[in-house]
Amino acid sequence: MKYFTTTSKASRRAVDCVIVGVYNRGKLGIGATDIDGASKGYIQNLIKSGDISGDEGRVAVLTAVPGVKAHRVAVVGLGKPGNLNAVSFRKAVSAATKAISTTKAKQVLNCLTLEPVSDCDPYYLARHTVESIGDALYRFDQMKSGRKKPAMPLKTIGLAIGKRGDAAKATRGAEHGDSIAAGVSLAKDLGNLPANVCTPSYLARVAKKLASGNGKLTTRVLNESEMKKLGMGSLLSVTAGAVEPAKLIVMQYKGAGSDQPVVLVGKGVTFDTGGISLKPGAGMDEMKFDMCGAASVLGTMAAVSKMKLPINMTVVVPAVENMPSGTATRPGDIVTSMSGQTIEVLNTDAEGRLILCDALTYSRRFKPAAIIDVATLTGACVVALGHHRCAIYANNDSLQDELFGAGKSSEDTGWPMPMGDQYEAQLKSNFADMANIGGPGGGSVTAACFLGKFTDGMNWAHLDIAGVAWKSGVKKGASGRPVSLLSEFVLSRAGSLP
Ligand code: BES
Ligand code: MN
Ligand code: ZN
Repeated sequence: MKYFTTTSKASRRAVDCVIVGVYNRGKLGIGATDIDGASKGYIQNLIKSGDISGDEGRVAVLTAVPGVKAHRVAVVGLGKPGNLNAVSFRKAVSAATKAISTTKAKQVLNCLTLEPVSDCDPYYLARHTVESIGDALYRFDQMKSGRKKPAMPLKTIGLAIGKRGDAAKATRGAEHGDSIAAGVSLAKDLGNLPANVCTPSYLARVAKKLASGNGKLTTRVLNESEMKKLGMGSLLSVTAGAVEPAKLIVMQYKGAGSDQPVVLVGKGVTFDTGGISLKPGAGMDEMKFDMCGAASVLGTMAAVSKMKLPINMTVVVPAVENMPSGTATRPGDIVTSMSGQTIEVLNTDAEGRLILCDALTYSRRFKPAAIIDVATLTGACVVALGHHRCAIYANNDSLQDELFGAGKSSEDTGWPMPMGDQYEAQLKSNFADMANIGGPGGGSVTAACFLGKFTDGMNWAHLDIAGVAWKSGVKKGASGRPVSLLSEFVLSRAGSLP
């Protein structure tokens, strides 16, 4: 994708399409005001006739607008005047993009970046523009046979700016947005691929391919016998019933000499049947998305290395399939984790924490500046927070605040959640150091407390993304979240935000 910034008026640029907005009650946005003036009231007339509306999500694509140089004008509804924020801005860009996505437009000029949007400067408006266009144009048709619909030939995104002084910020926002969009798209692809394609070995191959030809990025993959030597009895207990071999994927990006790295650990259960504690059949297909934590940390690695950020970052992905069989782990089995702590596996469906705890212990060797694990960990998290925000746990307030802030500015939001001794006590076992489940109450919290037992002395946070990683129903598909949140966190740590 190419970018340009421009201070010229919406009516004056000969692009394939300009995007402008109108608010409710007939209030025109800045770009629409200009188009309306140049076309002698064309927009106002269409508002009067009901062909254009300020309602959020409404889009009219006009062609041959008199006095306007652009071939098309997409007029998008922006809702109540004065209410535009990052969410509604992204929705508007996305709606306009979808409306023009069937056309042959190669360049678009987004004039919505001229509108006042709360808490957004030219950098974030450019980033949100490019990220939402990427999101809106995403297709997953690689598993369909026959002729595939051609993708929109969009090659150039223009960003309208109010003054020349904003050009550098907007350009940087667009470039960052492009890398993040690529990371989001990779995460969606990995999530959407079925479990018979996207196996642990497949994830390992993707990680190797990402590193090939990139001098700053390396990938190492550990096999089961290497994991056994390391004492990863907890991780290996999850793969015990599977034929598909487990992998531990380790990627290291070195953009800043010998600094301590940010370490991201992603749950990579390529399919979660529940194991012997088998899940009910209805909707079980969605457990192919149980590797979305892995997908998001790989997507973030793709984005960070593409942006060439001056930071060190390590990604660790424990990748396994959770299957029932004659060799599977039984409820009540006791396993020994790499940390030496023993775990009574009361429910084989609480497998995410069993692979993550060994990945967290393994990660100590990198002496992380911060370590964040990302996992579709609990159904309880979906009950608690729904599908809008991920749960943010941490063993210190400053890291929790940092991640909360990164979620806010990237519009990939989370919410701080509690931990503590009272919750942790729910994990007591009569037979081992701990059980892998904490009873009926606070399921997302007790899962976090379980992981907390393996992170002593590290600056650690945990994101439970069970509610946000994918959509169900007719729009079933991976969301690519929280690649934006994680990228924002790393951008900020690298000192690369304007
Ligand atoms: N992958 C699931 C969590 C999940 C379930 C995410 C549904 C999104 C939607 C996880 O491995 C799991 O099965 N967790 C159990 C834990 C329980 C046995 C303590 C759960 O949430 O039911
Ligand atoms: Mn499970
Ligand atoms: Zn799972």
